[in-house]
Amino acid sequence: MSAQLQPRRIEIEVPALHPAQQQIVNEARRFNVLACGRRFGKSLLGIQLALYMALEGYPVAWFSPTYKMLAEIWRDMSNIVAPITKRKDVQGHRIELVTGGLIDMWSLDTADSVRGRKYKRVVVDEAAMVPGFQNAWEAVITPTLMDFVGDGFWLSTPRGMNFFKQGFNNGQDPLNKEWASWQYPSSANPFMPPTEIEFQRQSLPELTFKQEYLAEFLQSEGAVFRNIEPNLIAPMDARPEDHRDHRKVAGLDLAKKHDFSVLSIGCADCKVEVAMERFNQIEYKAQVSKVVRSLRLWEVEQILVDATGVGDAVIELLESELYGKARTV
Ligand SMILES: Nc1ncnc2c1ncn2[C@@H]1O[C@H](COP(=O)(O)OP(=O)(O)OP(=O)(O)O)[C@@H](O)[C@H]1O
Ligand SMILES: [Mg+2]
Ligand SMILES: [Zn+2]
Repeated sequence: MSAQLQPRRIEIEVPALHPAQQQIVNEARRFNVLACGRRFGKSLLGIQLALYMALEGYPVAWFSPTYKMLAEIWRDMSNIVAPITKRKDVQGHRIELVTGGLIDMWSLDTADSVRGRKYKRVVVDEAAMVPGFQNAWEAVITPTLMDFVGDGFWLSTPRGMNFFKQGFNNGQDPLNKEWASWQYPSSANPFMPPTEIEFQRQSLPELTFKQEYLAEFLQSEGAVFRNIEPNLIAPMDARPEDHRDHRKVAGLDLAKKHDFSVLSIGCADCKVEVAMERFNQIEYKAQVSKVVRSLRLWEVEQILVDATGVGDAVIELLESELYGKARTV
């Protein structure tokens, strides 16, 4: 005789959503784009969105831009669902719940392994940072939603006018009933001390603050890479050895508009930015030697320098240090 099954009640603890997070849940449509400042509570909301569906017994998927970012979220998620976990595959980042629900967590630097799965909901964290996000979304992720007619959430701080912005625009279009989008500054999170945000406003260049804390879509974030697609953002863990025989180019924007100089290095073959550095209040001579060090490390072939407003002496210094690889504009 089989044992009598006792209904069990297990509780898991999640914080109550703050009002802006709750509004997003209430107004959600099939595809949802959240443009929010840093520390708004994007990831926490995303975890709960995935969780609701998995508690209903459905398979859901989480996507992070890189393996490193995934590792952190995986830890948070697996701790929260520990009391209702039936089976956990640490290697494959998969959790089966006692509800019958399933949570798969993927890093988008290996998006292709997702093919063949089906989900009721997908959550893409920091979507604006994903290089090649349009292709990952269209070719790999949306097909996984077809079986269940599933829904999707993109959570991100903006990164210029890229595919994430297109999704945001879809959500703002009243004729587009499938999409919804929201824009919230970091200060919409009542758990963030306003003094901290004020501190950031005072210490960051204006444009950086606008993007990161006010969630504004900027034309170009002080970068000189105007001829390269803006959605190709440096993966935080790019390594020179991964682009060894590729053609690397760089843009250098010497401090003037704001008090930062920005060096951006891109791989022309992979069409991604591989490194981005800012220099603050360092004299030009020191800046040039830092720039030269980075260019050697990445074996950059060509560098475009936007030197409007800086003196001839600096330009001469750069040109002599960079052996004719530099072109100033
Ligand atoms: N509803 C909430 N209740 C309590 N604390 C919250 C809530 N939402 C967010 N927080 C807290 O705010 C902080 C930021 O949350 P979270 O990491 O989710 O934000 P984020 O927008 O993903 O940040 P980042 O831009 O750094 O990725 C965390 O300490 C989190 O615990
Ligand atoms: Mg986050
Ligand atoms: Zn490359």
